[in-house]
Amino acid sequence: MSRPESIENRWDILYRDYPEVYEAFSNTPYHPTVYEQLPGIVDLRGKCIADVGAGTGSSSLALAQYARRVIGIEREAAMLRQAQQKEQGTGDRRIAFLSGDAIALPLADNSVDLITGITLALYPPQQYRAFIREGRRVARGSVVYLGISPGWYGGDLHDIIQGVEKVDDEVDRIFIEEFQFACQDIFSNQEYGTVEHIVNTYGFIFGKKAIEHLKRQGKTTIRWKFRVYWSRPT
Ligand SMILES: C[S@@+](CC[C@H](N)C(=O)[O-])C[C@H]1O[C@@H](n2cnc3c(N)ncnc32)[C@H](O)[C@@H]1O
Repeated sequence: MSRPESIENRWDILYRDYPEVYEAFSNTPYHPTVYEQLPGIVDLRGKCIADVGAGTGSSSLALAQYARRVIGIEREAAMLRQAQQKEQGTGDRRIAFLSGDAIALPLADNSVDLITGITLALYPPQQYRAFIREGRRVARGSVVYLGISPGWYGGDLHDIIQGVEKVDDEVDRIFIEEFQFACQDIFSNQEYGTVEHIVNTYGFIFGKKAIEHLKRQGKTTIRWKFRVYWSRPT
């Protein structure tokens, strides 16, 4: 299959056909990482966590630095394969990956301490309601979602990227107004090192307008604003 210049924000195509590009994108260093900041917001220590939308496994492996056990749940077979290979490479038996859907989790009631969705990015956004309900069924403690802050899709190039349906205000409304989650914003800079690397990963995902801008400016860093949402004890 010949590789296009960009998949123009078609994340479904990315996950299905280019999991190695997602892996290269997500493994490009962030400073400070969300995993350095998240434990200051939500207590992860010693917890059994179901990490929903585990992707190629990066979030689950990072959470395992703090947790007692992490079960990564992923729907897309190509992403799940990469996560499972990575887990076998670490030999860490506290981490396991399962095939499953965020809106019908393959886990028993009250079987984990926490549910996380790290940039799970459900679409359409109405699905967050089912994710929250499933999370509450399965977790004894909080449901935690880390998404991109409203208006920050694509990080600091959000105004350059075009043709993307804006769903972040609706996601924000569901978590905060409908389900009364708490929230806190965190910032992170992602350093790609070279224009070639940022174009081949970030640019490949976020589109030709972003690629043109990156090349014109010689830009190699993206600033992100993430929003952490967590359910309060009832
Ligand atoms: C942006 S990636 C995040 C991956 C990982 N959490 C990380 O931080 O690198 C989102 C992942 O969620 C998965 N996903 C999307 N909808 C899902 C659903 N309904 N159930 C399970 N996984 C889903 C996608 O296949 C993709 O692998």
